[in-house]
Amino acid sequence: MKGIVLAGGLGTRLYPLTHVTNKHLLPVYNQPMVFYPIQTLVKAGITEIMVVTGGPHAGHFLRVLKNGEDLGVTHLEFAYQEKEGGIAAALGLCESFADEGSVAVILGDNTTDADISESVKDFTSGAKIFLKKVPDPERFGVPVFDPQDPKKVLSIEEKPQEPKSAYAVIGLYMYDNQVFEYIRTNQPSDRGELEITDVNNRYIEAGTMQWAQLEGFWSDAGTFESLYLANKFWAEKKRVG
Ligand code: DAU
Repeated sequence: MKGIVLAGGLGTRLYPLTHVTNKHLLPVYNQPMVFYPIQTLVKAGITEIMVVTGGPHAGHFLRVLKNGEDLGVTHLEFAYQEKEGGIAAALGLCESFADEGSVAVILGDNTTDADISESVKDFTSGAKIFLKKVPDPERFGVPVFDPQDPKKVLSIEEKPQEPKSAYAVIGLYMYDNQVFEYIRTNQPSDRGELEITDVNNRYIEAGTMQWAQLEGFWSDAGTFESLYLANKFWAEKKRVG
């Protein structure tokens, strides 16, 4: 399985910090943010990786990641996303890289200490999402569970004002090659983006979506509050460990 790190977008929620570099190169304790999602993939045995980025500071990635060797990456590719077309649009740029195979996709502003090796090993087809209980589900994609069968996800709602569960769909996904067909036939949302949640709902409708609860720490780092929390977690973990 190949890996994809989505690090496009303009990081406007982190202005003025992101006037000077790309959001995913800002520090999370002692490393640039993007190291964490790359390390999650490499730890799971995925060493062929494509990083999708964009915006005015995209060139900074080359200086920081070079050929990826320092992080255990055996093959590193980059793609450039024009404009902020959405997470699914960024993923759509990776079709030829995927080369008909399955992909593990992680958002460049997500950090976790979870080990996803088993999920990667067991993945055959369809898609898999990971859920985490959070205090503020309205900030995320939120699963709606079947009241008759609490293990069944009926759909995912993107940033609902009244979340129907206390879980977030975290920014780590596994897809078979069908994902690129779903993206091609996806329509932009009200905010003008191709939403990854719409893609995930296509898999749910087709009955080919699996989910698991993520064990361990997870946070995004795309707002001042979550960036602070991610820094705090990694500082404490690394000082102890
Ligand atoms: O963090 C998990 C959440 O990420 C999910 O629960 C949501 O369902 C999903 O939509 C997403 O929500 P956010 O509002 O946090 O997404 P954001 O626009 O902040 O983008 C997250 C990352 O995705 C960003 O750091 C880089 C990548 N991205 C985003 C956009 C909009 C791209 O590569 N290209 C893009 O056009």
